[in-house]
Amino acid sequence: MNSKPVILSGMQPTGQLHLGNYEGALKNWVSLQDKYQMFLCVVDWHALTSDFNDTAPMQDRIFQTAVDYLAAGLDPAKCAIFVQSDVKEHAELHLLLSMIVPTPWLERVPSYKEKVESLGLDSYGFLGYPLLMAADILLYKANAVPVGKDQLPHIELTREVLRRFNALYGPLFPEPEGLMAEFPVIPGIDGRKMSKSYGNDIRLADSEEDTIKKIKKMLTDPQKIRRGDPGRPEICPVFALHKVYNPGLDEIQAGCTSGALGCVDCKMKLAGYLNESLRPLRERRKELVNNKKYVINILEGGAERARQKAGSTMSQVREAMHLKRPDV
Ligand code: AMP
Ligand code: TRP
Repeated sequence: MNSKPVILSGMQPTGQLHLGNYEGALKNWVSLQDKYQMFLCVVDWHALTSDFNDTAPMQDRIFQTAVDYLAAGLDPAKCAIFVQSDVKEHAELHLLLSMIVPTPWLERVPSYKEKVESLGLDSYGFLGYPLLMAADILLYKANAVPVGKDQLPHIELTREVLRRFNALYGPLFPEPEGLMAEFPVIPGIDGRKMSKSYGNDIRLADSEEDTIKKIKKMLTDPQKIRRGDPGRPEICPVFALHKVYNPGLDEIQAGCTSGALGCVDCKMKLAGYLNESLRPLRERRKELVNNKKYVINILEGGAERARQKAGSTMSQVREAMHLKRPDV
């Protein structure tokens, strides 16, 4: 028996991951893998809540996401890395929880309200998105769930639903905690939050040349037009990335503020540090991409381990809800 506390976390298979995903999630997972029993799920069913009309790229996106997990240093011996749809128990628990959750609990989740308006999503499955997430978490009786701030309302909903379950059918689920770490929001090349959907991202999979090209295009302080003009590092996205990747920040800060350092040189320095820091990960990534069978085997092995835990939880759930036929 593994007595370590359990972590469950997940990410949608958006395809190749970017620096924001790496700094804001993956790196943290890697640092937790020795202390926790980890289940890391590529949530393909969640992706369908918005991308149901274009499923052709799904398998490649799942593969690319898994490759980035492994390249970042997640060790399949320590964590079960798996695809949500390979473990059908997620669907069963989601269905059972849907019977006990009042719809207003789902309608008031902030991400629901926002996306109904901004993306026009109106499906039944989309309303159930946070409940599917609750099922992901509860199936593994997770003690902790490392996520970004935007996901906290979903963890709160998970707690409310499990309290209702425990009250109705007997105590089965422990209350999970959101494991928050303070991460910088990584800006993209246009200065907005780095995000694939904005097309402003730098990917782990990008070549060093592409990384340099993207950084050259980055937005800087609009008041600093040429070398000699003093700049304001605190509002510059290039400086925000220096903070993450450059160990000698003072030199950049002083050079920018005085004007002595031009933006082109500042960007080239950043590209150098960034490429150097990502080099080992990118080497591993190349090997993994060429070794498809190895990656798929890891996902299948992960699903096998996930199914053991999920299967044992579901058998307790069925018993608690009197859905198990008695022995005759
Ligand atoms: P997403 O698929 O965009 O929800 O990203 C998955 C996870 O990556 C999020 O929960 C965050 O932890 C992290 N993440 C995404 N974009 C950024 C960003 N620009 N800066 C920091 N973290 C990010
Ligand atoms: N909703 C999460 C996101 O968009 C992804 C997710 C699905 C998740 N199931 C989860 C995260 C379970 C943590 C635990 O980022």
